[in-house]
Amino acid sequence: MFQEISFILNGKKRKFNIDVRKSLFEILREYAGIKSVKQGCKVGECGACSVLVDDVLIDSCIFLGLWADGKKIKTLEGQAKQGKLSKVQQAYVNEGAIQCGFCTPGFIMATTSFVKKNKQKNVTIDEIKKNHAGNLCRCTGYQNILKAVKKSLRN
Ligand code: FES
Ligand code: FES
Repeated sequence: MFQEISFILNGKKRKFNIDVRKSLFEILREYAGIKSVKQGCKVGECGACSVLVDDVLIDSCIFLGLWADGKKIKTLEGQAKQGKLSKVQQAYVNEGAIQCGFCTPGFIMATTSFVKKNKQKNVTIDEIKKNHAGNLCRCTGYQNILKAVKKSLRN
């Protein structure tokens, strides 16, 4: 069964006739050409498919495409503006928080959401860890990721 849905994707209105069984992850990759979302576990455990829906961090592999109807979706592709990296992206580059990069788009979306809620606040390392607990890096580059999050909060 197919149904028409529309949502704002990285600031632009998009309309799709989707298979109602598909996840938002599948809609983004197969219909919308968004390749930053990665298929890790497909069961909401690794965060490689993380995006923001109305500014809330979600795992797009366990979020039905239908639920995105009428919402605002943000992915990594919408973070840089006019060729300039976002502050969070730049902090990841500066701190060497990127290894294979498979998990990086999801981490950057998690940090973007975290920074928005905690800008200039004195957050603890434990709070940062707790808020990024849904994102896994198999290269175990967590120390540099933590530094990048801390830098993002100060920038
Ligand atoms: S692929 Fe979605 S959480 Fe792992
Ligand atoms: S950088 Fe390799 S899984 Fe995260």
